[in-house]
Amino acid sequence: MNVAIIGYGRMGKTIEKICLTRNHNVSVVIDIDNKDEINSLHDKNIDVAIEFTQPHSAFPNIRALIGQNIPVVCGTTAWTDKMEEIQELVQNQDGTFFYAPNYSIGVNLFFAINEYVAKLMNNFQDFDVSMEEIHHIHKLDSPSGTALNLAHDILTYNEKKTSWTNEETEKREELSIISKREPDVAGIHSIFYEGPYDKIECTHTAKSREGFALGSVLAAEWVHDKKGIFSMKDFLKQFL
Ligand SMILES: NC(=O)c1ccc[n+]([C@@H]2O[C@H](COP(=O)([O-])OP(=O)(O)OC[C@H]3O[C@@H](n4cnc5c(N)ncnc54)[C@H](O)[C@@H]3O)[C@@H](O)[C@H]2O)c1
Repeated sequence: MNVAIIGYGRMGKTIEKICLTRNHNVSVVIDIDNKDEINSLHDKNIDVAIEFTQPHSAFPNIRALIGQNIPVVCGTTAWTDKMEEIQELVQNQDGTFFYAPNYSIGVNLFFAINEYVAKLMNNFQDFDVSMEEIHHIHKLDSPSGTALNLAHDILTYNEKKTSWTNEETEKREELSIISKREPDVAGIHSIFYEGPYDKIECTHTAKSREGFALGSVLAAEWVHDKKGIFSMKDFLKQFL
């Protein structure tokens, strides 16, 4: 594939390495210094653009890429209040858009485990559920996009929880998500079910960024010749 990397930070650099090991051609790299080049990619024969930038940049970048009929795999988090506009654009342009708040295959298996446990534990309301997420100090958003995805599924299945809050809470109807920022942590997400006599902990620990980068390249390989809007759930269906 001919790949454009949009955002050449920690993730963009790791994605470039993975692309090269999988024999893809990285023909364009765009970062903040040459950001306007994103508007003139239509004649560059790009099969797919992989976008990992910053929350405020993701929406205009995706819009520019879809507008030029370039399939987009996006990993930037904390912009998804604009998702409806992107969905409309993709439909109108017959475009291709893949989004995941977390591209790690292990995390996506963890999502499935979380759903299963949330359904099961809804029958045992003596156990109160809470979450913790820990990331490196450069992470701009909190809670993480992954924590929000986990929270969404817990709120779907737990009849006692109606909303989440990014702090400790005494309110039984609120799901507490504690966010911590520490040096050199790629990402740790824990879900706790605490009862009067015991505590159950489910934790996913990312060992490095490479798992996210590989997942995004696998998603790009899978999606670049499809039309529509896709997520890791769609991607993983091929293995089920
Ligand atoms: N979905 C996932 O699996 C996953 C995994 C890790 C990180 N992330 C998210 O990916 C994003 C990037 O993470 P990172 O650790 O690489 O951050 P980073 O700060 O290291 O890199 C971001 C890069 O984007 C560049 N940038 C900013 N605005 C731009 C623009 N308009 N055009 C082009 N480049 C621009 C910055 O100059 C920087 O080099 C964050 O939102 C993070 O939360 C997602």
